[in-house]
Amino acid sequence: MPFLKLSPSPQDFKTNLTLTSTSPTSVQSAQMPKLQVEGLSKSFSQKGKAIIALQNVNLYLQPREFVCIVGASGCGKSTLLNIIAGLVSPCSGKVLVDGEVVPGPGADRGMVFQSYTLYPWLTVAANIAFGLKLRRLPRAEIKQRVSYYLEVVGLTRFAKAYPKQLSGGMKQRVAIARALANEPEVLLMDEPFGALDAQTKEQMQKFLLELWEQTHTTILMITHDLEEAVFLSQRIYVMSAHPGQIKQDFQVPLPEHRELDMKLDPDFIQIKRAIINALHEEH
Ligand SMILES: Nc1ncnc2c1ncn2[C@@H]1O[C@H](COP(=O)(O)OP(=O)(O)O)[C@@H](O)[C@H]1O
Ligand SMILES: [Mg+2]
Repeated sequence: MPFLKLSPSPQDFKTNLTLTSTSPTSVQSAQMPKLQVEGLSKSFSQKGKAIIALQNVNLYLQPREFVCIVGASGCGKSTLLNIIAGLVSPCSGKVLVDGEVVPGPGADRGMVFQSYTLYPWLTVAANIAFGLKLRRLPRAEIKQRVSYYLEVVGLTRFAKAYPKQLSGGMKQRVAIARALANEPEVLLMDEPFGALDAQTKEQMQKFLLELWEQTHTTILMITHDLEEAVFLSQRIYVMSAHPGQIKQDFQVPLPEHRELDMKLDPDFIQIKRAIINALHEEH
């Protein structure tokens, strides 16, 4: 099932763009988490020594939740996300989407990386179409999806441009469109705005929230920027390092609709402080 609940006719796609769905609090009671990670462990061998990157990691995401993971550099965040994406295999534990164990990579989990991963020799439209062509979707459907997701990320005018003609923020919007075009059950993002300047980053945060408000996709995002985590998510997992574990799970009790100036509200700052404290207890 596509998470956007797209109706098959392209005319209806437009109306869906302005749709605001049920609040995530109303799905808290949903029986089946969209994503579950159970007892995940992973070690690597470095210079003959075993490094425990992850130890018994458990987490869940309810349908339509936006959850961030924060933690010190090297605590295993990327390893965790790569395992969820099926790009790295765990030593033990499992990943479930809609209650089913996923054995490897799949179109049900879309991934956006920090570094720009667009194909430089393909146009923006062809980059978005790439995975769909690999999956041999009918040509008409590919065309429809590409134009729909170009519109979702506001880049219709740049369909024929090449990545080198785009700014960093625009490249990441194409990467997000490419991931969304597969209509994944869960969107996974590994520090997607980490390489952007402060102003572009704020624009992208606003953009991502609007996208989430419109589509209510389930998003799991890694960031080392605590303010970004509080601003974007409903829940935050704090990880500890050596070995990488989930240390705490914070609800973010802010209104669902967020504006950038909320970052200055006392409530916002209090939540941020609680997370900073949780990270510091660590050391
Ligand atoms: N392919 C690998 N081979 C060996 N060690 C790795 C590999 N990938 C990650 N690690 C180690 O696992 C730990 C966690 O890395 P990573 O998941 O990249 O952390 P983070 O994303 O939180 O910065 C680090 O100590 C890192 O050196
Ligand atoms: Mg990382």
